[in-house]
Amino acid sequence: MSDIKLKADQIRKQFLEEVISIGSDKIEALHSAYLGRKGSINSLFSLMGKAEPELRKKLGQVINNLKNEIETKLNEAKLQFVDKEKVEKAPDLSMDAYPIPVGTRHPLTKAMDDIIKIFTRLGFDIATGYEVETDWFNFESLNFPPNHPARDMQDTFYTGENTMLRTHTSPVQTRYMTANKPPVRVIAPGRVYRNEAISARSYCLFNQIEGLYVDKNVSFSDLKTTLDMFCRMYFGPSVKTRFRTSYFPFTEPSAEMDVSCFLCGGKGCRVCKKTGWLEILGCGMVDPNVFKSVGYDPDEVSGYAFGMGVERMTMMKLGVHDIRMFFDNDVEFLKQF
Ligand code: PHE
Repeated sequence: MSDIKLKADQIRKQFLEEVISIGSDKIEALHSAYLGRKGSINSLFSLMGKAEPELRKKLGQVINNLKNEIETKLNEAKLQFVDKEKVEKAPDLSMDAYPIPVGTRHPLTKAMDDIIKIFTRLGFDIATGYEVETDWFNFESLNFPPNHPARDMQDTFYTGENTMLRTHTSPVQTRYMTANKPPVRVIAPGRVYRNEAISARSYCLFNQIEGLYVDKNVSFSDLKTTLDMFCRMYFGPSVKTRFRTSYFPFTEPSAEMDVSCFLCGGKGCRVCKKTGWLEILGCGMVDPNVFKSVGYDPDEVSGYAFGMGVERMTMMKLGVHDIRMFFDNDVEFLKQF
């Protein structure tokens, strides 16, 4: 009995010494040396045969306890190594990500966002319409005479007898007023389409930003003030504006607005063609007939509207000479902005 116990103690002592200093490659060897078929524990069990029968149970317990202890310790040791290996092999999370090419916003999207932001600050909401429009909203409700040249097949992409790709964002004016009571203060950014010969200066589609303000007693000076403010916020504090009389079926009076050339400061250059001015938008006071077609009373309310072409303005601002560049999606071109 004491013989076996003594041996068990020795085995335990030795194991504890060995298990402290082992490396991960030695664990299996240690396992078979102690717990294997010919290992120390089994040899202890085989000694039990010689012990007095009444002590065997007790001895069995001693050996089993030792066996369990060794098993637990070996497992702990194994886990330690596994954890250590995991840590050593884990990716270094502080490392730089490998360079994935990151896209940028399209210059037109950027320009639209900047312009929208300014008008939002000036109190305008954003309205949207449809790129496929009806004759009513694109032309009729906007006071276009029946044989107005803009209705001509040459300008308009028809998609059906009474439907077309909108030729401007002005139908959002009448759509919005039809659905909402005054006062109204909205901008409507979006794509428009025209069946024009494609060149460096014109493309079959482009973007416009429409503006509409309707309330009691809205005057032309409100229009001038707002557009003047916009231009200084967008082009810079020193730009000047001027208005020239013009014609649109849906505004009366109508005007075209120029800004002093922000490239040469008004002295005259290639971009402003030596005039010192750049034409950027059409505008005017909402025609009473437009109010009638949306159910507003022209004696009750007045309003102004404007519409600007985003591509032209952006071309001037960025020095882009061909409008088609915006639509080619040439990454080398787009990356510059
Ligand atoms: N819709 C006009 C165009 O496309 C621009 C405009 C909008 C003019 C609003 C006046 C008022 O040319």
